Amino acid sequence: MPAIDDDAARGDRLARARDYEERFSGNIAPSERPCVHLPARIGWMNDPNGFSYYRDRYHLFYQYHPFETKWGPMYWGHAVSDDLLHWEFLPTALAPDEPYDGGAGCFSGSALALPDGRHMLMYTGVADAGRKPDGTLAMRQVQCVAFGDGLDYRKYEGNPVIDETLLPEGASAEHFRDPKVWMEGDGSFRCVVGNLDESGSAQILQYKSRDGLHWAFDCVFARNDVQIGTMWECPDTFELDGVQVLLVSPQDMLPEGDEFMSGNGTLCLLGHRDDETGAFIAESRQAIDYGLDFYASQTMLSPDGRRILIAWMQNWDSISMGGRQPWFGQMTLPRELSVRGGRLCQWPVRELERARKNRVMHKDVRLEGELALEGVSGRVVDLSLTIRPADESEPYREFAIWFAQDEHFHSALVFRPAERMLKLNRKHSGLRRAIVYHRKCAVPDFDGTLDLRIVLDRYSVEVFVGNGERVLSMIVPTDQSADQITFFSDGRAVLNVEKYDIEANSVPGC
Ligand code: FRU
Repeated sequence: MPAIDDDAARGDRLARARDYEERFSGNIAPSERPCVHLPARIGWMNDPNGFSYYRDRYHLFYQYHPFETKWGPMYWGHAVSDDLLHWEFLPTALAPDEPYDGGAGCFSGSALALPDGRHMLMYTGVADAGRKPDGTLAMRQVQCVAFGDGLDYRKYEGNPVIDETLLPEGASAEHFRDPKVWMEGDGSFRCVVGNLDESGSAQILQYKSRDGLHWAFDCVFARNDVQIGTMWECPDTFELDGVQVLLVSPQDMLPEGDEFMSGNGTLCLLGHRDDETGAFIAESRQAIDYGLDFYASQTMLSPDGRRILIAWMQNWDSISMGGRQPWFGQMTLPRELSVRGGRLCQWPVRELERARKNRVMHKDVRLEGELALEGVSGRVVDLSLTIRPADESEPYREFAIWFAQDEHFHSALVFRPAERMLKLNRKHSGLRRAIVYHRKCAVPDFDGTLDLRIVLDRYSVEVFVGNGERVLSMIVPTDQSADQITFFSDGRAVLNVEKYDIEANSVPGC
């Protein structure tokens, strides 16, 4: 049998991937997977792709290399859901089997439900382009489309639909990826694509089309003149609550206070569009997520008008943590977005409330030192906390919650009111690699009472602060047997706790 990556085998790649996942993914026990977060069906997963609603179901594709738990030539994995929590895997949708995508593969992109009933995928095809003068390999990145029925997709014979001939002067043909496509009210198409200009700074290019097949360059939608990172990957833009939002995932960031950390990060720009040029004008910026594992977010509009975000709950800088399962990579919870008080806010989709059971309440608990509460433990839980000082004139010095805990391990969320600072820490979560293990998040609008919603799902934690003004996401590699939760306060605090178990098995049989 030829190796998967042999040229001669290229034509069979889709069939081979489908056969491989069908044969082996069913051997992964549901208990080895997260409950309500979508993991790779088997092998490797990175960015969410093609997040859309088509034929009465949510479709989510993802960057996929089924054969190994590390990145390789990219396929598009595929899953569908009625409620964004219970997912069913469908066969691999795209394979790197054409001259224009047969190198590094079918990179990230997006999807649209077309008025004529077809499902359109738009993605970046990556081909090898020989050697550069310095001996390194060159890539060619072009934008391609495929059409399907929600199960099988056929690449358009006229691909690529956007190539280097449609780049503005000085734009790189090598770093030109991740199209986010949408339809305007008049039925015409637009997309934004990430790009590097010749100075090495990111720009987001906008294209327009009447039919989704013939495209023209429209404008430079945004530029990285604020100098955040180098390449901006996975752009997404939409209007929300009267504000134009631009989300990107910048590479090679430098730290900036506690807002941005170095490496691959996330950036949300809020602003408006210039009436004449259509270009984006930024007015404020923030991180999208303040945790350690979040990248490449993508949004969609649900049929009931909610703007929903999902992201890869991992980061390129932390992938060396590996995993013991035959799958690597999972998505965040889908989150409803809003813009309030000049900030992008995120909250778990309301569907999660229907998956909660076994409510446990503890009200007005006096806390000083360590405390475990009756019925409050587990690794698949939705926990709401309110923490306030016992005496307004004598604030506590530190509050902490330890979770995924046993006698050897714990993960921690710590709050220091005097510094208005939250800190997420996985130093003792069982990591066996020297990767960054903590991150701080400022809570400048803290008014004495701290509200937290904490969702644990076997291998992860997501912390929603206040009404979702800040979110921290993190992978927790600790064995599932470490399931205790302990509260701690240095000084006297009062605590309200509402805890639910989350119904298990989002991906029952696959
Ligand atoms: C972001 C990214 C994208 C690219 C894909 C490749 O994580 O680097 O820019 O399309 O992953 O898998």
